[in-house]
Amino acid sequence: MWLSAFQPLLTAYTGLTIAPSDYDKAVRFLQHRVAELRLFDLSSYLGLLETQSLAADQEWQHIVQVLTVPESFFLRDKGQMQILKEHILPELIQRNHHSRQLRLWSAGCSTGEEPYSLALLLQQLLPDIHDWDVLILGTDINDKVLAKARAGLYTRWSLRDVGPEVLAYFHPAAHGQLALDASIRDRVSFRRTNLLQTPFPDFEINDIDLILCRNVFIYFDQQAIATVLAKFTQTLKPEGYLLTGHGELYQQALNGLETRLFLESVVYQRIANKRAALPPLLLPVIEAIAPMVSTKTVTDSTAPKSATVALPLTASARMKQAYLQEDYAAVLAIAQTQPSQGTDFETYYWSAKAFACIGQYHAAETRLQDALALKPRSVSCHYLLAHVKESQNDLENAKALLQKTILLDETFVPAYLDLAALCEHEEPDKYQQLHTQALTCLKQLPPEHYFEDIAAHAGDLIHLLPS
Ligand SMILES: C[S@@+](CC[C@H](N)C(=O)[O-])C[C@H]1O[C@@H](n2cnc3c(N)ncnc32)[C@H](O)[C@@H]1O
Repeated sequence: MWLSAFQPLLTAYTGLTIAPSDYDKAVRFLQHRVAELRLFDLSSYLGLLETQSLAADQEWQHIVQVLTVPESFFLRDKGQMQILKEHILPELIQRNHHSRQLRLWSAGCSTGEEPYSLALLLQQLLPDIHDWDVLILGTDINDKVLAKARAGLYTRWSLRDVGPEVLAYFHPAAHGQLALDASIRDRVSFRRTNLLQTPFPDFEINDIDLILCRNVFIYFDQQAIATVLAKFTQTLKPEGYLLTGHGELYQQALNGLETRLFLESVVYQRIANKRAALPPLLLPVIEAIAPMVSTKTVTDSTAPKSATVALPLTASARMKQAYLQEDYAAVLAIAQTQPSQGTDFETYYWSAKAFACIGQYHAAETRLQDALALKPRSVSCHYLLAHVKESQNDLENAKALLQKTILLDETFVPAYLDLAALCEHEEPDKYQQLHTQALTCLKQLPPEHYFEDIAAHAGDLIHLLPS
């Protein structure tokens, strides 16, 4: 009853739908708010939300902070990052070299990793960036994530997929966090925008060359997607690009947009006013796009780049490959093909990683418990479970799990660093001790020693430790 009254209002205001796995949480939240605000019943609460008032605005912030998924990380989706780096951004730079203007928008940017990733890519691609007028704008509906984005402070978890060339832009900061260098941080501006309710194009959001709106529509109602898509199309420059998460526009009419197919992902481009002939497709065209979430093809990374090879890989090997290509939908789709009886450790583990990456922490935890039942001493499972707990704000259990990870493998430096970060504030002695232990371990390991769980080499981690 509570949800059937609340859901239409939520969707009308934000576009969001509530996943069945979140029904209980949503009802508990509503009951709590009604009690906290000393309201008579749910209708009074819904009445408050419908007013145009500061109180309603604050209440909507409470709601989005509880019901949205803020999961994000740097250089998320390597395939799309490659398309941006090798094709789209160079094309935009070339196209705009007379005006020296570039306008990029990360819509639904959460804690800022996505627009900062754009700034990091531009740093490599545009050596004379100071002579350009560059807008990199990050927007989100949630004030809390925007405050974090502006601060530019991250844990190693947000940097789990980056190499040394990106880590070089981070410095050790308080509470074991890593601070993004001001030269990159100051290039990005942030502002609150509700994709559904805020009217745009507006004074700032207009004539955009590239919109990234990834992993946002996945939580949206289809009609809301259509509305936002039409606004995006009006906001893009002719031939400007839109990137969404994989398959997020499946079932949508692409009025005014056309698809460009790359091996790694579909991207959308606003049709030019005067239709110029399109340049030839940049990469081999995917013959058919599966009418499912994933458009990626699992390829053999050791094979020549142009060849798409169907190798007789095991399911878990395919899951790992799909995970490394950040195609989490494919990981979960492969898991679903496995018989529920006798599911193996790897299937649970890669499913858990995929669920954690899309912010479905409860599902991730269940898979990890299943994996740990099969391998109780798995270091990777304990470490990932610690991060799931941390993401759920269960810091005590996160600490206990990191401690256990260290007991299981005393050379596993990522656990020392993350535990140190969690202890710094309240247990400064322990923080120091953990850092010293991490440094001692790192010095004993060869620089090329690879920590697969955080995709980093020992040599990269040393420079992130305060000396
Ligand atoms: C999973 S995060 C995606 C972050 C980033 N784009 C990425 O892919 O890593 C989804 C974000 O969309 C935001 N969001 C949800 N509904 C929105 C709306 N109506 N307007 C603006 N942002 C919204 C949420 O607050 C959340 O931060």
